[in-house]
Amino acid sequence: MESITRKKIVAFTKTYNHAFRNGRLKHAGRVREYALMLAKKENADRDIVEIAALLHNIGYAVKSYGHPPLDSARISGLFLKDVLSEGMAKRVAECIRHHRAIDKEPESVEAKIIAAADSLAFLEDKGMQFFVYKLSRGDIKGMRKRISRIMGKIKLESARRIAAPLFEESARRWRVQKRKIGND
Ligand SMILES: [Fe+2]
Repeated sequence: MESITRKKIVAFTKTYNHAFRNGRLKHAGRVREYALMLAKKENADRDIVEIAALLHNIGYAVKSYGHPPLDSARISGLFLKDVLSEGMAKRVAECIRHHRAIDKEPESVEAKIIAAADSLAFLEDKGMQFFVYKLSRGDIKGMRKRISRIMGKIKLESARRIAAPLFEESARRWRVQKRKIGND
């Protein structure tokens, strides 16, 4: 990807992610790191995954349909038609639209990478706090549901290998916290 294109996309990402709080920009950066790492392992298109990672959550800045991946794909599409070729923009949109596997499972290897990278970023940055938080509120059911959704998005073997220790660390902290609560 030409550096001018990357600059435009990063600037656009910053505008949208700053419109939303809770570390969205940091998260997009983390997803990008994992996506590029997985693209190398899977021989996938690095430009497609990098762009999709940066833009995958920008729909949170608007709230029109209540379905952020759709909003993210729509807003990205409008922006990318002037920046990328039609074919590339389409492939990026597919990754963004299906990264949560809500109505359709991701099909291309790039789309599978974005779904997996999103989960890996969550496990690394929020997983532990999130599990402990849910436990402290006694919401075991909610926690289990979220865990199976996160892990369910990791279809690629290469990503599973990265997820295993991250998940183990979250589970370890969860057990420590559970013991603490049990002893109170
Ligand atoms: Fe995400």
